[in-house]
Amino acid sequence: MKKIYVRVKSSKYPIYVGSNLLQKIQILHKQKLSGVKNVILISTNKVPKKYKRMVKKSFAKKNFISLDIKDGEKSKNIKNIININNKLSKNNFSRDDLIVSLGGGVVGDLSGFAASIFKRGIKFIQIPTTLLSQVDSSIGGKTGINNKYGKNLIGTFFQPDLVIIDLETLKTLPQRHIVAGFAEILKYSLIMNSKFFSWLEKNTKSILKRRDANIISKAIIESCKCKAIIVKKDEKEKNIRAILNFGHTFAHALETKFNYSSKIIHGEAVLIGMIVACKISLNKKFLSIQDFERIINFYKVNKLNYNYKTFINKKNIKIFLKIIKNDKKFKGKKINLILLKKIGQSIIRSSDINNSFMPLVK
Ligand SMILES: NC(=O)c1ccc[n+]([C@@H]2O[C@H](COP(=O)([O-])OP(=O)(O)OC[C@H]3O[C@@H](n4cnc5c(N)ncnc54)[C@H](O)[C@@H]3O)[C@@H](O)[C@H]2O)c1
Repeated sequence: MKKIYVRVKSSKYPIYVGSNLLQKIQILHKQKLSGVKNVILISTNKVPKKYKRMVKKSFAKKNFISLDIKDGEKSKNIKNIININNKLSKNNFSRDDLIVSLGGGVVGDLSGFAASIFKRGIKFIQIPTTLLSQVDSSIGGKTGINNKYGKNLIGTFFQPDLVIIDLETLKTLPQRHIVAGFAEILKYSLIMNSKFFSWLEKNTKSILKRRDANIISKAIIESCKCKAIIVKKDEKEKNIRAILNFGHTFAHALETKFNYSSKIIHGEAVLIGMIVACKISLNKKFLSIQDFERIINFYKVNKLNYNYKTFINKKNIKIFLKIIKNDKKFKGKKINLILLKKIGQSIIRSSDINNSFMPLVK
């Protein structure tokens, strides 16, 4: 088992990465959990029951209740927040009690938000069980729900007390979600760690095929370290944390166009969005043609979708531009784009939207 710390101004908390950790939560974190009397496990109907049973076993001596929300992005809503908070009140939860989230980014974001507002914040453990949530959403304290105007428009910064990544949970994850989570792993390498990118060039096939637990573990640990570095520097996304949005401007536009349906899931949109951001970086002469081609080759070798032209063309570009202009990062005529200077180094540039995106369809 490996332990990585996330340090922010208000707290310091560990991320444990290893196998068969679900049964050992209390042992791992005895001191901090000693005052906990009540525990609620929040998960979804699709997360395998055996993981829920293991977590329950872990808290054998506590009052333990559970709540399954409906699977899917639509569950990140205010109704569920009210339900969770009512359940906590009904069961006399105090600030010293605990919410445990078990599942992907949806349940993590929802539970984290509920934890941050109940009695102004109660104890919170993230147990991410998708690759995306293990390397990204469970770390760094962004919580949130959606409203009818868009995604994650209501939320807080609220750091968990602990993150537990049990590699065993990946065994039941559908392949599509492995690829989607991998997008965020690749993102860290491109924006801030060229050595990690070189390592991924050698090991991605094995990661995607889940061949070797040690390799998956290393990819997750490196990603968590990257995220922890950025979050430490800029917990509330005032500046540098924005680089984590690399590829996400176009990804969000794609997801919006497809109405957040299963036609394209977040990580798949990010894979395309990163290629779009690389192409804009090349057009603006930040990124060399050699690095651009190395990235394209990486996608080809690992059978990742790099063909953004199947999504964006002369006919529909205006729809995308309109969606991008509604993005919360849009300021006046310009948008802050995260671009690559080279593999392992990113920059934030305030850019004219039309000038950046129009050349993509010429
Ligand atoms: N807070 C942040 O910093 C942050 C960062 C990135 C993404 N997000 C959010 O994360 C969400 C996406 O997260 P996601 O990709 O994990 O999606 P998700 O939570 O919908 O999970 C994907 C699917 O996998 C299932 N699942 C989860 N674990 C499983 C397992 N071990 N075995 C089998 N099935 C399993 C889920 O039930 C679901 O059907 C979005 O709402 C996005 O906004 C948040």
